[in-house]
Amino acid sequence: MLEIKNLMVGYGAITALHGISLSVPDGKIVTLIGANGAGKTTTLKTISGLLKPMSGKILYGGQNIAGQLPHQIVKLGLSHVPEGRMIFANLTVMENLQLGEYLQRDKQAVRQELEHAFGLFPRLQEREKQIAGTLSGGEQQMLAIGRALMSRPKFLMLDEPSLGLAPLLVKTIFEKIAEINRQQGITILLVEQNANLALEISHFGYVLETGKVALQGDSDALRQNPQVKSAYLGG
Ligand SMILES: Nc1ncnc2c1ncn2[C@@H]1O[C@H](COP(=O)(O)OP(=O)(O)OP(=O)(O)O)[C@@H](O)[C@H]1O
Ligand SMILES: [Mg+2]
Repeated sequence: MLEIKNLMVGYGAITALHGISLSVPDGKIVTLIGANGAGKTTTLKTISGLLKPMSGKILYGGQNIAGQLPHQIVKLGLSHVPEGRMIFANLTVMENLQLGEYLQRDKQAVRQELEHAFGLFPRLQEREKQIAGTLSGGEQQMLAIGRALMSRPKFLMLDEPSLGLAPLLVKTIFEKIAEINRQQGITILLVEQNANLALEISHFGYVLETGKVALQGDSDALRQNPQVKSAYLGG
């Protein structure tokens, strides 16, 4: 269980998160939606230790992890697929995946994780020797998710995984996210502009507006909410 309490985060003089609170129960998918600049990416970056909060708590399994360094957070089992994928464009698919498992020394475990990733995304196996920068956008997103899974996370954060993908592939990516949650029991915090599909696969949702939680609830209830419908679901 991840619990955020009154988290305030800023960039210099700009405050991006004005004391948000949210929780992500074990084994669930929770979606964070909100307009551009609402603070979604800032939230994920703060959880993964890339940004230091001004105040507030991030409790993971009861321990306050706010302000810890990124490698310590990864060790605790949290993994982050950043906005814009951030794969290593000049390395091959296999090399990118191997970089994701740097925590594991056990060769057998690494092979198992590779098999997991390839099972989920067979396309990656077909292209394991290809230079990652030459993969299509969708394949790069699969690689970014596959790499994040290599560290055997218990908690996965995904920042706009559907961004820039063709509609058919968007559906596939959402199906894979649901599969990762269901089959591997990984808890997921999902940031998405594609609110409709995100709420469809998630259990709970939060709506961020200019650094504050404006609404929260079961995903089904949010999908029926008139405010959410008009602002985020296109009618
Ligand atoms: N490095 C930075 N320096 C200064 N301000 C920043 C920085 N990064 C983000 N911000 C500001 O913080 C606010 C929240 O940004 P954030 O990236 O968290 O939004 P977001 O909800 O992820 O938006 P999007 O949907 O466009 O990705 C914005 O006003 C943004 O301009
Ligand atoms: Mg963002």
